Amino acid sequence: MSTKETADVHQQRTRVAIIGAGPAGLLLGHVLAARGIPFVVVEHRSREHVLGRVRAGVLEQSSVDVLAQLGLADGLRADGLVHGGILLQHESERFHVDFEELVGRTVTVYGQQRVQADLMAAHDTLGSEIVYGAAEVSPGHLDGRPVVRFTLDGEQHAVEADFLVGADGFHGVTKSLIPADLLAPSEREYDAAWLGVLADVPPSTDELIYALHRDGFAMHSMRSPSVSRLYVQVAPDERIEDWSDDRIWDALDTRLAVPGWRLQHGPITEKSITRMRSSVVSTMAHGRVFLVGDAGHIVPPTGAKGLNSAIADVAMLGEALAAESAGDDGPLATYSDRALERQWKVQQFSEYMTDLLHVPGSAVPAEEREFRYRSRLGRLRYIGGSRFAQQSVAEQYTGLAIR
Ligand code: FAD
Ligand code: DHB
Repeated sequence: MSTKETADVHQQRTRVAIIGAGPAGLLLGHVLAARGIPFVVVEHRSREHVLGRVRAGVLEQSSVDVLAQLGLADGLRADGLVHGGILLQHESERFHVDFEELVGRTVTVYGQQRVQADLMAAHDTLGSEIVYGAAEVSPGHLDGRPVVRFTLDGEQHAVEADFLVGADGFHGVTKSLIPADLLAPSEREYDAAWLGVLADVPPSTDELIYALHRDGFAMHSMRSPSVSRLYVQVAPDERIEDWSDDRIWDALDTRLAVPGWRLQHGPITEKSITRMRSSVVSTMAHGRVFLVGDAGHIVPPTGAKGLNSAIADVAMLGEALAAESAGDDGPLATYSDRALERQWKVQQFSEYMTDLLHVPGSAVPAEEREFRYRSRLGRLRYIGGSRFAQQSVAEQYTGLAIR
């Protein structure tokens, strides 16, 4: 409830203010709601815009467990596609990495859009305070406590809180409250991007296919028994207008080809290009301000870790905020270190999978490109023939423990 204390500014107090209603922000709201901790979420986009973003598709077993513990897994259980492994491919050879057999774990293919929709619907049921379409969102401090100022329908608002959580993605504003020398992100740019499409055609495979080809990476994922999700590596400066549907299907046919198998084509309903970058801040906490998810770190998509890392952060921070409310501030004090320790393990896996499956860009001299390609083939063949290597991939792909 808001009161009009200062002329023309609607002021409000809460325990936790969250900036960003992506999966991290909305999930944190659910963790807090389950503990009876008041919160407000402030999002600058419209609800429809947030819901319309097509992004990640794979949930680690640990992420499924977090959602299930909060009673948020009904849709996931009904429509999620449980996968017991992945297929890796090189030079027309395909092999299965059997997660269930290797580490006794699975992943679930369930689009981020569905996760987002489920989180929103559950907040609707709770009657949570989530502000969409806020303009000029500006985090700051007032008398030593965090405050989020924003404009809504031309009116000014200020939410004062005991804690502020930046769940506002890579380009978010919360980071601005952490001094630059403490935030100090470590970064790596890749000379590759992913062109992703959604197509109305049943998947041509039971398991996700990750393929290395001389022309570049390709992958076959899915969203449902009637919708396929497919990706091809393109140069980072590539324009989506230069990729007709036919050109995309040609690239997929070539890069995913193995004898005796055919990729089914269908109408492409969405296509976009995502650049690839790794970035990790040096701290996820400063005073009463905390970062979760993409606000703190991003990965190239090859290991399917972006959304899963956001869920892991939220599980850790949510528990820590609950402990603080119960009088134990220990977990909150160690949140940043714990989140970053896990994140760096995830970063190296995402980098490993990206390097393994992509060909270098044109900036690399031809002889070195050839060396790197053959070295990657060697690595894939090593994985194909080594149970130890496969177990390591399986352990990391299905998700590290959240502590
Ligand atoms: P986001 O989902 O980015 O949510 C942040 C929210 O904060 C957004 O709703 C945003 O509108 C809001 N916000 C930002 N700034 C402000 C502000 N100033 N004020 C108020 N609100 C603000 N991961 C994979 O694992 N596989 C993939 O295939 C994959 N594909 C991706 C494709 C794209 C185009 C992108 C951008 C990401 C992709 N990711 C993928 C990463 C994955 O989607 C993210 O890791 C995940 O969305 C992180 O969730 P988040 O809630 O931390 O951040
Ligand atoms: C999907 C995205 C990924 O980044 C990945 O590694 C696997 C699947 C997907 O969108 O389905």
